[in-house]
Formats: sequence, C-alpha cells, structure tokens
Amino acid sequence: MDCESGAGLLHRLTSYTLDREWDVPLDDPRLRHDLVPNDLATLPPPVKQYDAGLPVTELPRELPNPGISATAVLAGSPVPSRPLDAAQLGRILYLGAGVVRTGERPGRQILFRAAGSAGARFPLELYASTKGVQGVPDGVHWYDPVDHALVQVGPVPGGAASTLIVTGVPWRTGWRYAERGWRHLYWDAGTALSQLITAADSGGARPRLQTQFPDTEIARLVGADGVHEFPLALLVLGDGTPAAQATGPATGGYLPEVEFPLCTQAQRAGDSDGWGPAWPVGPVLADVPESPALDEVILRRGSQRLMDRNVQLPRQLLDWPMRGAMRGIEVPHWVVVHGVEGTAPGIYRWPDLDSPQRQAELREELLRVALDQYLAADAGYVVIGAIDGAELDDRGYRDAQLAAGLVEGRLHLAAYALGATASGMTFADSEVPALLGQSCDLVTLLFTCVGVGEYLSRAGGMPGAPVHIRQVKERIRD
Ligand SMILES: Cc1cc2nc3c(=O)[nH]c(=O)nc-3n(C[C@H](O)[C@H](O)[C@H](O)COP(=O)(O)O)c2cc1C
Repeated sequence: MDCESGAGLLHRLTSYTLDREWDVPLDDPRLRHDLVPNDLATLPPPVKQYDAGLPVTELPRELPNPGISATAVLAGSPVPSRPLDAAQLGRILYLGAGVVRTGERPGRQILFRAAGSAGARFPLELYASTKGVQGVPDGVHWYDPVDHALVQVGPVPGGAASTLIVTGVPWRTGWRYAERGWRHLYWDAGTALSQLITAADSGGARPRLQTQFPDTEIARLVGADGVHEFPLALLVLGDGTPAAQATGPATGGYLPEVEFPLCTQAQRAGDSDGWGPAWPVGPVLADVPESPALDEVILRRGSQRLMDRNVQLPRQLLDWPMRGAMRGIEVPHWVVVHGVEGTAPGIYRWPDLDSPQRQAELREELLRVALDQYLAADAGYVVIGAIDGAELDDRGYRDAQLAAGLVEGRLHLAAYALGATASGMTFADSEVPALLGQSCDLVTLLFTCVGVGEYLSRAGGMPGAPVHIRQVKERIRD
C-alpha cells in the first residue's frame, strides 16, 4: 500500500495516536481544518431526500418470517431457493437497514437502524435494482427506511438478477469523524451486509456479494454523484447477470454538498472498470447450536454499552462465533481473551484458539489501546482484524475494511444468538502493531468486543413502529 496516495494516504493521515485527541486532525493541508466536528448547525439529514412525486411502492409491514435459527443461517445450512416478492424483498431490506429504534441526543433525534454504525452516524443508503420481483415494478428503487417503502429513482435496468446496492455518504459520518469516516463507510457496509446476507440466505434469495464492479456505471445506476455519495458493495440475489446496467439517468436526490477531497481521492484510486468474482461463502459448519430465529436475533441486537467483567463467557461462546464469523474470510484476525472459561488470558491468532501467542492479562492494555473505552477491557474477548499493508492495493484496502465489518456484524449476531452481547470498537492505530507483535506496516481494521451484558437492550420494532429507547452511557476513563 502506498502511504503517499489514495487509500494508503488516507489511512496514514487518519490514524489515531495517543498523543493527540481523536477529534484533532493532523496538521496536514490535505485534511480539512475548516469544519467543526459535531456542530448541530451543520448536522446532515439522517437519510437521503427526494422531491415528492416519484413512484412509491409501499412494502408490506408484516414481515414473512422463515423461522430459521440465526445459528443455522450463520453456519451456512442450505435453504431451498424461493422467488422474491415484495414482502420477501422488504424483509431483507428491513433487517439490513430499517429504522428499528429511535432515541434522543442533545438537539437531535437518532434513527437507529437494524445494523450498527460507528458513532450511530448511519452513513449508508440502500437501493434495490429489481427485475421480476412480484409486487414491485422493475426499476431502480431507493429504500426509504423510515416509511419502509421503495421510491423509484431509475428506469428498468439491464441484466437479470435483482441486485441491492449499498452506497456511502462520507459527510454523514465525516460530520463527526472527518476523513476517518471513509473507513467507517466500509465498516458499516460490512456490518449491514452481514444482516442483509443472512436475511437473504434465510429467505432463499441466494445472495452473492460483489465488491469489484464498474464504479462509475453503478454510481450512474442509482444516481450517486461519486463525490458526496458513492457505491460500496452489491448484493446480487439469485442467478444470472446482475440487474445493474443503467439504461437511462437516475434521479439524484439531495445530499448536503460537503466534500472531503482526501476521501474522494481515496475512493477514486480504487475504482474499477469491470466486474470481479463474487466473495466466497466459506464452508458449511457441521455443528449448529440452538438459537432463536434470525429475525428475532437481528431485532434484539444492539451495541452493548456496559459489559460485566466479573462473569466469564463459556468457551463455546468464543469458538462458535469465531467459526461462524470467519467463514470465507481471509483477512487475518487476532483474539485478545480476557474472560473465557478454560482459556488462558492473552493473544491468540485465528484459527489457533488453543495456544496463545502471548499469555497475559491484557485488560488495562486494551483499555489504553481502545482510547479509554471500558468495553474493550470488560469484554470476555476482543477480536481484532488487521492486515499487512504490503498485501493491499487501493481496492484491496476497501475490501479488507469491509471484511472486518462483515466479521463484526456476524460476531454480533452469533453472540446475541447464543446469549452474549457485542459492540464494535475503534482504537489507536499507533498501538496495535506492538500489541500484536507485528511490524509497523500492519493496517489495523476493526475491533469487536464480545462479552456479558449488564442489561438487556430493548428489542427493535417492526416496520413503521420503531421502539423508543433511552440512552445507556458507556464507561470511559477520564
Ligand atoms: C464499525 C463500528 C464501530 C464502532 N465503534 C464503537 C466504539 O468505538 N465505541 C463504542 O462505544 N461503540 C462503538 N460502536 C457501536 C455504535 O456506537 C453503535 O452501533 C451505534 O450507536 C448504533 O447503536 P446499535 O448498534 O445499538 O444499534 C461501533 C459500531 C460499529 C458498527
């Protein structure tokens, strides 16, 4: 990875170190210094906006529930294929991106979505480019996560297999995290895709994840301008060529026009002209522990704010979630164990969870590396995705971030399915290579904390009926 241009430069200039507050940018002219983070006067709207008058398809608010356990889906157990209709498609969209809870923060309301998002910024948009979905006109549609409806923004696409397109809006997360938010787009896309994929799998929609695609063409398909919004990933539902060829212009809608030039350059540096292979799905797991249905687990999922370090996790809650989360993933992961029954505290390198690379009590160390956030110290274990920068080009960097997000999302689902809890976690980049005994070229991707919750989060609501939650504050060292 070239640290002087593209994704490598962005990674370097947005790396956290312990001698600088996380919201103070490096003194480098390539970063924007004129934007005030978290300024309510510039708060971007939570979702994209369109003029009234576009054709709207209301999706059924009653979700069909295939009743398949979360663990069976995460294990990759086969499900008979089923043709898509409006209700099935709506279920997939809702379980990946619907508004399931609402909450208040000073001066604003938060629309919590089905999948987590770094800092609750929810910077993604979701589109469905449909062909032959009963009850939905063929065309390109924006998913309205508040009204659980499809708004048609583009004409009938070329291609055969209905395809979901996940896009990212850098300013929505940059409002709080500035240029580092570009990384969050891929983390959050991975997290949302873990739910879109499991929902589609369990509904028999046979999803295929594509992250190498012609960027300009896909941006045109959904009306993204490539600067304030760009495509991140595609999920093709079923066999055949993706229904992703634009046959005419799409309505662009409205987003605030705030650009981070470094993010635009990092994104462009990895752009592609053509298609690559779909992601491998990985081996089916032979053992499937009992768990509630996937839909119930997704709605129950939240990011645990307080974990109890005095209660150890059963060993199965380390082994099974890791095997489920890592199916088909090649990006290296480490596990820092704090409190798992029968397991020595220390650092393990996946897939070897029996012999630690370093045996040590690391709660204090993780607290420091995770910017004084106690979740990283109170968890039963913390999973760390990281990769040697020499292995990455500009597109590979995007894929690695997304893979780490996918692992985070699956760990979340597996943990909640088996009675534990989880939260994503950011970190001081400067401290991770030494923690893991790796060279300084290590690109740290994402942390996930899995542990015993101190409270139960309220289950999310159904389409159009999100539940209201009060804020539980995480512990942070002063
Ligand atoms: C990629 C990612 C990174 C996150 N990083 C942190 C973190 O550093 N600290 C923290 O307390 N929560 C973190 N979270 C949790 C988010 O704050 C949480 O997802 C968001 O507030 C939405 O709430 P929910 O997940 O309960 O729906 C992270 C979540 C994701 C998906």
